Amino acid sequence: MSLAFIWQDDYCIDNGIIDQEHLRLFKLANAVLAIERPSKNVLNVKKALRRFFEYTRYHFLDEEKCMLRIGYSQFEAHAIAHRQIIAIMNDMVRRCGNTEDYIPVLEHIMHDWIIRHITEIDKELGKYLHVRKESEYTVSKQNILQEVIENMPSLDIGLL
Ligand SMILES: [Fe+2]
Repeated sequence: MSLAFIWQDDYCIDNGIIDQEHLRLFKLANAVLAIERPSKNVLNVKKALRRFFEYTRYHFLDEEKCMLRIGYSQFEAHAIAHRQIIAIMNDMVRRCGNTEDYIPVLEHIMHDWIIRHITEIDKELGKYLHVRKESEYTVSKQNILQEVIENMPSLDIGLL
């Protein structure tokens, strides 16, 4: 079994919902690793991987709603980074095809994209959240929010 993805205190962003969602991402990634290999039931591996990808997308949207709510100045660059990760996920799945060798793909996505994103880009959001008070939050404009949701690329996980 591969080494599990280990959560570290240093990954904390807001001591709140963002951390909870990041923790869930770790759990879902570890759930893929926990499946015995070579798995007799490849479908289980694929199902677990799909759950991880789908939750990642859900989490990105949640984070973007939060950024809009607080009027975060780095929103655009951050949202672009999210979309880049979704594109990487789609690309990796496509390249993997039906080889069923998804563990290196998962490790690459976790280490080189998700964890790096948390420690670099989400950290900046965390600093911003830290200095903002709840009372200062601006109310998001519903139309901008709708646009953001519609612009989030879909997952191309048909091969899974
Ligand atoms: Fe993020």
